[in-house]
Amino acid sequence: MPETISHPKPVNVSSIPQRSPFRYPGGKTWFVPTFRNWLAYHAIKPAILVEPFAGGGIISLTALFENLVQNVVMVELDEDIAAVWHAIVSGNAEWLAKRIITFDLTKESLIHELSINKGDLKERAFHTILKNRTSHGGIIAGGSGLLKHGENGKGICSRWYPQTLAMRFSGIDKIAGRIDFRQENGLDVLKEYRDRHDAMFFIDPPYTAGGKKAGKRLYRYCEIDHELLFELCESLAGDFLMTYDNAAEVKIMARRHGFQMRLIPMTNTHNRTMEELVIGKDLTWMDSFQAVHEPDVIYSKEE
Ligand SMILES: C[S@@+](CC[C@H](N)C(=O)[O-])C[C@H]1O[C@@H](n2cnc3c(N)ncnc32)[C@H](O)[C@@H]1O
Repeated sequence: MPETISHPKPVNVSSIPQRSPFRYPGGKTWFVPTFRNWLAYHAIKPAILVEPFAGGGIISLTALFENLVQNVVMVELDEDIAAVWHAIVSGNAEWLAKRIITFDLTKESLIHELSINKGDLKERAFHTILKNRTSHGGIIAGGSGLLKHGENGKGICSRWYPQTLAMRFSGIDKIAGRIDFRQENGLDVLKEYRDRHDAMFFIDPPYTAGGKKAGKRLYRYCEIDHELLFELCESLAGDFLMTYDNAAEVKIMARRHGFQMRLIPMTNTHNRTMEELVIGKDLTWMDSFQAVHEPDVIYSKEE
């Protein structure tokens, strides 16, 4: 059996319920089928899922909505992203839903709104969602610029779906009590949970290993100690899955720590099919599951 198995067809993400209110750079919607299969393969449901680099949180949200786990620990350092998760867990998801519905988005109203610093957590959360849905690639780090043309020449409005977004927040409100959100270093939270046999870990770090600096442009926090992350993964009592870009240096680290690897095809935002690396302790279960052989090749850009 080769160490990495390549399957040419990417997952059809339009078939996957989009639960996250974010358009997240490096978002893992395409990973949902594999994640479900991983949980199905484990006969005993974990008590807790730990996501140390949560970002838009699609994997944790899917786990909660589909009752694959009872509780999740979501960790994210970015202050703006964290404001949204904090607002959700502190009971302000419905407030955000209403704020979105009642906001009349124009270029002028957007610029005016973002110029006001209200110093309030839920307003900061609203600003994050506004920026995320009106900027290029959903990138809020380092002023990536507003959408000029967007879809169908609709400019900044092309990714602003107020009703859909409000429904997502209302939906998340119902499961918010099962989220433990932490604005901390994901590596510290891994250490905290490493002895828990009843925890599972989905680990999606910013990609700055192997000389590819994409993570630097996409995220405000992108410098992590990858070697330490691999060491921590080796020490986890519970099972983990980790995703990385398919870089030679990453594979060297994975081999050194005795992990297995598989490649999963995905379609990036530029509609290019790429392969991402999945790393884990024992991935032989993946070979018999359908996620890596997803028959559909249709990819929808709807988010
Ligand atoms: C690849 S993205 C995660 C995307 C996420 N899986 C999704 O589907 O939306 C990596 C995330 O890690 C965050 N991050 C970077 N360094 C971190 C750290 N030390 N602790 C916690 N989060 C961190 C970044 O802000 C970014 O949101």
